Amino acid sequence: MIVTIDGVAASGKSSVASGVARALGVPYVSSGLLYRAATLLGLEAGLRLENAAELLAHLRAQPLRLEALAEGNRVWVEERDLTADLHSSRVDRGVSVVAALPEVRAWVDGQLRALPEPFVAEGRDMGTAVFPQAAAKFYLTASPRVRAERRARERPEDVPAIEAALVERDRLDTVQSAPAPDARVIDTGNLTLEGVIGAVLAGLPA
Ligand code: C5P
Repeated sequence: MIVTIDGVAASGKSSVASGVARALGVPYVSSGLLYRAATLLGLEAGLRLENAAELLAHLRAQPLRLEALAEGNRVWVEERDLTADLHSSRVDRGVSVVAALPEVRAWVDGQLRALPEPFVAEGRDMGTAVFPQAAAKFYLTASPRVRAERRARERPEDVPAIEAALVERDRLDTVQSAPAPDARVIDTGNLTLEGVIGAVLAGLPA
């Protein structure tokens, strides 16, 4: 069984997916981490992020491994754990360029579809493009201000700067971020994390 949790940037997808996965006793899978890892490796190698051929050749030369557990996801390149470097503002700024490349999307999708079920998958297009057959689909939203206030606890920038960056990332991610027609939309603005996890669990098929 696959459960998909999509949503806008900083809507709480990872925390909710982790909580749901723990309740179900299955792993969760963060697709955004793979886009972030591709971006980080491209930046570190000094590549032009919009050049798909260069980036893909670089990614194929040093295979990434997504370690998907219910408690959290980690991305490895051989013995190096990239995870702590994936949520910088530098990666935030570059990732939408990388995620707009069809070749990179196919590379990420291939890795996700190779994972053994069951799992909870979170991202932008899990319920639409990658796992349209999922047993249950959810889509998380919240206002830009609420999301920026949450993210400000994890970033050095102030709330208005984070909000502006989130709105810009939403705009760049619009193409792949539409909710699936059969997704249950949850506005997380007035809910606690436990409240959102409870709403997802209550919406699962018996
Ligand atoms: O979920 P997160 O904010 O970490 O995702 C980082 C970026 O990866 C998004 O801004 C988006 O550009 C891209 N992404 C995507 N499709 C997904 C997951 C993430 O395009 N399924």
